[in-house]
Amino acid sequence: MINKDLSLVFSPEKIGNVEISNRLVRSATYECMATEEGHITDNLIKIYKELAMGGVGLTITGHAVVREDGKNLAKMSCIHSDDYIEGLSRLAGNYHDATKEVGNDSKIFLQMGHCGVQISHWGWTGELVSSSPTESVIQKIARPLKIEEIIEMAEYYGEATNRAKKAGFDGVQLHGAHGFLITQFYSPYMNHRDDIYGGSIENRAKFVLDILKSSRKKVGYNFPIIMKMNGSDKIKGGLEAEEAAKFAYIFAKAGINSLEISSYIWEAGRRESLISLPPEAQRNIRQRGLEAFNLEFAKKIKEALEKDSSINIPIILVGGLYRFETIKSIIETTGIEFCSMCRPLIRQPDLPNTWRNGPPFPEAECIHCNLCTKDFLVKGPKCKGVRCVKKEKEERKKKRRNV
Ligand SMILES: Cc1cc2nc3c(=O)[nH]c(=O)nc-3n(C[C@H](O)[C@H](O)[C@H](O)COP(=O)(O)O)c2cc1C
Ligand code: SF4
Repeated sequence: MINKDLSLVFSPEKIGNVEISNRLVRSATYECMATEEGHITDNLIKIYKELAMGGVGLTITGHAVVREDGKNLAKMSCIHSDDYIEGLSRLAGNYHDATKEVGNDSKIFLQMGHCGVQISHWGWTGELVSSSPTESVIQKIARPLKIEEIIEMAEYYGEATNRAKKAGFDGVQLHGAHGFLITQFYSPYMNHRDDIYGGSIENRAKFVLDILKSSRKKVGYNFPIIMKMNGSDKIKGGLEAEEAAKFAYIFAKAGINSLEISSYIWEAGRRESLISLPPEAQRNIRQRGLEAFNLEFAKKIKEALEKDSSINIPIILVGGLYRFETIKSIIETTGIEFCSMCRPLIRQPDLPNTWRNGPPFPEAECIHCNLCTKDFLVKGPKCKGVRCVKKEKEERKKKRRNV
């Protein structure tokens, strides 16, 4: 029986028509474990089985690319052709079998996207495309997509959604945060177009609406399509919370089933250091008091959606969550339905089970050092896969002491 202190965190909630067994979500985490061509490997299946057994209610996979030129890093999973369905089916099937084995009924959504101009040294080496002729953090200029190419790109997302459904995933998440292609359309910092895809909020939202239209045509309305979006770009001239709430309203009206609220574009980190390029660059979260660093954005969005009683989609909060008490209080007091974690679950995929079996409710062991991120940014394809590099170091040190 679940302790009554835990009851709301470990109570079910729906996303679309799909029931999620508890409110803890594993946020999308690039794995660097697919083959060079983007096919699923046994190592990938293994880490997802660990998550399935670790007690999380919903796992969102790392970003899989909808078109080959959308790869921003090495060894990313792909979903741009039917050839990928077989491997992805094995991943989803193994996940479901593993969660059944422990009686948790955890669900798995595939995150998908395209990087556009936001590319590292290890990504696509050909021409870059974006909403506008913007420069990447590695000083490459993207070519703006023509209107007919934008419509075609939305079709790639639709095809990929259909493949994810065929492969047995419980839903998909569009990667619309952190400056990737979808952000490049709705962010005022990144979109400089003056046609029907630029300028007004409605025009900048249109790419997402095209993707939804294309996807719904193929998968219908019972298959959850959710999106990760920025509540702020955290850069001067970028998306701010108020505008983000307006976009959230448009996306919800258009039929998105849930929004995960994040923040940051890589440009915002450019001025810090190369290592802190991605959104996960919020270091020393404990020391700097940055726990739940996207909470205010998520609350604004929740409030904006609540004004229209015809909208009823759950909100997922991500970023700097590491204490059970904080998650419990957010879920009990703000109306935000889900809390999502990335780095804590790299280190401890079974953290949800630890908390379910509490008290005590220990803080996540992850210290947000970002060595896991540095490893793949520096080593590219030579990275052995995303893992807690800090823990590896600690274990090596312990062994040396014991010798
Ligand atoms: C190693 C690593 C890989 C990530 N990969 C993705 C990704 O594929 N898609 C995505 O939306 N966010 C990705 N993120 C961002 C996380 O999902 C999350 O938004 C961010 O790390 C903040 O959450 P946390 O404080 O719980 O780590 C990644 C973060 C890390 C550290
Ligand atoms: S290396 Fe480990 S401790 Fe450091 S941020 Fe990554 S998961 Fe957390």
